[in-house]
Formats: sequence, structure tokens, C-alpha cells
Amino acid sequence: MKPSVILYRSIPADLHQRLDKHFTVHAFDDLPPDNTPAFETALQQAEGIIGSGGKIDEAFLQRAPKLRAASTITVGYDNFDLEALNAHQVLLMHTPSVLTETVADTIMALMLATARRVVEVAERVKAGEWQNNIGPEWYGVDVHHKTIGILGMGRIGLALAQRAHLGFNMPVLYNARRTHQQAEQNFNARRCDLDTLLAESDFLCITLPLTSETFHMIGHEQLAKMKKSSILINAGRGPVVDEQALIEALQNGTIHAAGLDVFEQEPLSVNSPLLQLPNVVAVPHIGSATHETRYGMAECAVDNLIAALTGQVTKNCVNPHLLINPY
Ligand code: DGY
Repeated sequence: MKPSVILYRSIPADLHQRLDKHFTVHAFDDLPPDNTPAFETALQQAEGIIGSGGKIDEAFLQRAPKLRAASTITVGYDNFDLEALNAHQVLLMHTPSVLTETVADTIMALMLATARRVVEVAERVKAGEWQNNIGPEWYGVDVHHKTIGILGMGRIGLALAQRAHLGFNMPVLYNARRTHQQAEQNFNARRCDLDTLLAESDFLCITLPLTSETFHMIGHEQLAKMKKSSILINAGRGPVVDEQALIEALQNGTIHAAGLDVFEQEPLSVNSPLLQLPNVVAVPHIGSATHETRYGMAECAVDNLIAALTGQVTKNCVNPHLLINPY
């Protein structure tokens, strides 16, 4: 009998068929709330789950007694309680690498959009305000040759450093727990402490995951250390930035602008003060959202689940110590 798995996010038909070859798949649009009978029945039998979003914690795992693997169609896994997964011997698989270049592109897009006020001025053109030659009230600021400060030098940070250094002639600073040889050798990146990063960056780009250490890492105190002319870009996780502090910094002119792909609460409320600010470009967590990359992530997650439930994991496992043969 094929193992039973739950799919809780829609994936392309060919990938669904790939899952069907290996498993009996119970498909849901989302993770339904507790006590939805069809879901609870499927969860009782499920040896694997695959999808994105939702909270997978001790209470969830209690309801899934046969679960052996969870495959998230994301690189970030802050919605999983890793301690609980380890306690229940559940492998957690994720999708690093496939989305690196696309997220780095998104960060560049946010840098350009905020610095050159692309969204704001495009809206003014649509509103019929372009009547004469434009004057300084339409101008933005340069991106090229400005200093980029990258908070978190992982795969995405490296891809961003490459774009900034080679494409835009930008000096690259970064703050990370370890020295990144490749970033330093290939893109002349200089590692510095957080205060230096805040003080010297023209663009502060956050690529950090959310952990107990990164929660509200950027708050009032840190924003006050940034240049008045600086632009903050967050494409890591919303709660890395204290959003209320950011709103105040943008309202008071403590910093110049912000380009935000992630928020403390997603979807962002239409009533958020962020949406009233002309110096904010807010996009709906589109970091990896291209057709090609979202397909690649779904494919990677499907293959990860197959590997996890057939004892063939060689990569992409968050808790490889649970494997019989850790790689
Ligand atoms: C991830 O995979 O964690 C991204 O945030 C999704 O775009």
C-alpha cells in the first residue's frame, strides 16, 4: 500500500502526478482549522505533508501520529516548531537554492523602485499629472555607486552582493555570524558589526530568516543609527523589523524610504499606516514569485518528500541528524 500524504497547497498537475505515483495524496487548498473531519481523518493516516504556510507545532503533530516527513515549499521554515518535529522524529525538508537568484532580483527591484520612486511617479503619470517637463519634485536618488549593507550573508545575500558589486558598482558591506570568503573575494564585500552596517549603508537590505535571535533585530534604536538618506529593504521575514518603529522612522524622516516584501502580519492590512506613506513600496511577499521559480520550488519540495519517505535524503533536510545515514 502506498503511504498516505497530505498536500495543502496547489501545485502544477505534472508534479501532482509525480506525487500520485508514490503516494495516496489527500489534497486540500490550505491547512484547514482544527476539527475539519476530512482533514483530521487524512492527518491521522498521513506519513508526509507537503505545502506552505500554516503553523506546524506540537498540537498539530499530536494530531498526526504517523507523520514521518514534512516538506515545505519554501526556504524559510519559521512556521515549524523544530523542537517539536525533532521530538516526534519528523524530518523537515525545504527548498534552498532554487529561489536564490529570483529573490535577489526582487531585492534589486525594491531598491530601484524606492530610490527612483518608480511606483509613485508612475501613479502620477496615470493621474494625468505629467503636464510639463519634470522638475526636482519628481527626482529620485541614485542606486549605482551607493553603499549596500547586507544583513545576513547566505545564498541570497551573496547573489545580491554579486548584482550590486558587478552590476551597479556598489561597495558591499555585510553583517553575518561568519566571514564569507566568496563574498569578500569575488565581490569585495567587507564584513562589519551591526552598528557600522547601520551607519554606513545607503541601502540596508535584510535577508535574514526569522529566529528568536533575529526577532525585532531592527527597532527604534537601530533605525536611529541609519543615515537619514538611507533606504531599508526587507525581503527576509517581516518580524525581523519592528514594524511600528519602522512606520515612525519613515513618518519622521529618520530614514528616507523602505521597500518591503514581508510584514509582521501577512497579508498586510489595507489599513496599515505603511500604505499611507509615499516613501514606501510594499509588495505582497513576491520574493520568489515567478512562474519559473515557483515551479522549481514545488518540484524540489515534491522530490524532497519522495526522498524523505523512501529513505533517500541527501540534501535539503533541516534536521538531518534524524536520518539513519545523516549526510
Ligand atoms: C521562502 O521560501 O521562504 C520565501 O519567503 C517564499 O517566497
